[in-house]
Amino acid sequence: MSEASPLILLFGHSGQLGWELRRTLAPLGEITTAGVDDADHYLDLTDGDALDVLVRQLRPALMVNATAYTAVDEAESEPELAYRINAEAVGEMGKLGAELDIPVLHFSTDYVFSGVADRPWKENDEPAPGSVYGKSKLAGEQELIASRAENLILRTAWVYGTRGKNFLLTMLRLFCEKDRLGVVSDQFGAPTWSRLIAESAAQVLAQCKTSHGRFQFGKYSGQVFHLTAAGQASWHEFAQAILEQTAEDCVLEPISTPQYPTPAARPAYSILDNDNLAAAFGVRLPHWRRGLALCLEEMRDTGA
Ligand SMILES: NC(=O)c1ccc[n+]([C@@H]2O[C@H](COP(=O)([O-])OP(=O)(O)OC[C@H]3O[C@@H](n4cnc5c(N)ncnc54)[C@H](OP(=O)(O)O)[C@@H]3O)[C@@H](O)[C@H]2O)c1
Repeated sequence: MSEASPLILLFGHSGQLGWELRRTLAPLGEITTAGVDDADHYLDLTDGDALDVLVRQLRPALMVNATAYTAVDEAESEPELAYRINAEAVGEMGKLGAELDIPVLHFSTDYVFSGVADRPWKENDEPAPGSVYGKSKLAGEQELIASRAENLILRTAWVYGTRGKNFLLTMLRLFCEKDRLGVVSDQFGAPTWSRLIAESAAQVLAQCKTSHGRFQFGKYSGQVFHLTAAGQASWHEFAQAILEQTAEDCVLEPISTPQYPTPAARPAYSILDNDNLAAAFGVRLPHWRRGLALCLEEMRDTGA
């Protein structure tokens, strides 16, 4: 490995975001993946000291963590597992990062906020998660920051993509199966394509890479930045926009949150203010409708 091609250890390469990061980060270094499925290095984050052993063995120049326990409803009934993956493991990455001088890029969520607001959430607004998932992700942020490893946290929201479990793929399936569909119209967010998050993360990291093949977050280390598509939509509006791009015939009915009860509470208002990321790194995502069009175009082109 040459100095200019540092080793980047990617966790969560099989997920919606990790899958895209594997490609977008490739120009920045040599990517090596650690995970359960089809990874360069087998790693189950619930496995005792496996993370510790692997990181000490590889000594990468950067850790990128795209893992998460993302089953928001299931987390309510298995909080230990959610905390293990979303908080403790992230804290361990931080401790290893601090000890071995390895920066950590981590991702978090709008679910750290209560969802009650009348303006987009800023990074330093008081978090008040209403679900186990949100609480465990907030604990992960806090553990990483407290570790004093060089770190950067990108909070995103309403992630979808061409693979995995997400709203876009669920709607495309349901449009084929149903004539009518009730979709929640009183929760608001910014649907964000995982590819665009991964491209933005690569742009940020490119600015943090030194000529010696190291990554340094400098004055931004320890900071959280919001990274979502521009604009806002309800789930119903998002579904309508997807439907309009298909040939399916399905009637979408707006319904309220109480009409679609779930074990975990969802934030009603999840728009994140992206100005800080734009000011620090010059990175800003396009409107969610543009992202959706690009993603559907990609799916048509690749037959995904
Ligand atoms: N999805 C959203 O709407 C959303 C919204 C806001 C923020 N985020 C954040 O964005 C980031 C990426 O989310 P995503 O949607 O890409 O998640 P995802 O598709 O659910 O992928 C999660 C990844 O974590 C891995 N993982 C889970 N448990 C593991 C374990 N015990 N050991 C090793 N790997 C494990 C999974 O591996 P397997 O495939 O082997 O299970 C998978 O690669 C996360 O930080 C998430 O909190 C997501």
